[in-house]
Amino acid sequence: MLKKQLAGEKAVEFIEDGMVIGLGSGSTVFYTIQKIGELVKKGLRIQGVPTSQETTLLAQSLHIPLVSMDEVDEIDLTIDGADEVDRNLQGIKGGGGALLYEKIVACTSRKIIWVVDESKMVELLGGFPLPIEVVPFGYKQVVRKMEEEGCHPVLRISNGSPFQTDGGHYIVDLHMNKIKNPENLAEKLQKVTGIVENGLFLNCADQVIIGGQDEVKIET
Ligand code: 5RP
Repeated sequence: MLKKQLAGEKAVEFIEDGMVIGLGSGSTVFYTIQKIGELVKKGLRIQGVPTSQETTLLAQSLHIPLVSMDEVDEIDLTIDGADEVDRNLQGIKGGGGALLYEKIVACTSRKIIWVVDESKMVELLGGFPLPIEVVPFGYKQVVRKMEEEGCHPVLRISNGSPFQTDGGHYIVDLHMNKIKNPENLAEKLQKVTGIVENGLFLNCADQVIIGGQDEVKIET
């Protein structure tokens, strides 16, 4: 079994009947959602809050009951993937471009579990380019500012055009290599007009399920 499948499937053990579940995005949580689909078929009653159009379509195909963010007061548990996680469980997300909705869902969640394969665990964040979600109007100003700050920005392109998020924004990936102080950087990025959200998910995950060769490890 793939490492990411091991991690993804393990996460369903933390789901209880009646829960509202935040459904993350990406190829690892795909396995979680597949498994939830099987459990729903067997009678598990949950409501899912999807974090992307892709996840919405997947969950619908598996007949998982869905509700929108605005229909819930709180989410019991969110299960999501991550692109990089350090030993303090700080992470980078947004490789799939769903960071804004993922962060909105995360902020409303009582508990957050990330599912990753062991290659995502790092000493220092930043090897994976940090995505920032940017308003298309005047995005070049943001790119210029990020260049001036030494963040090495690259506009994400898909099929020859700027990649567009579900919220209609662009993604700029910051190729920083090493992020020595994630808190400082997140604070700095939050102050830039035109940046809607950044992919630093700090003090967010309660638990990370790490898929290895034949076993999973759980970090809390
Ligand atoms: C999407 C995300 C994903 O959760 C992240 O990119 C991990 O994806 P994968 O499990 O496919 O590696 O943040 O915006």
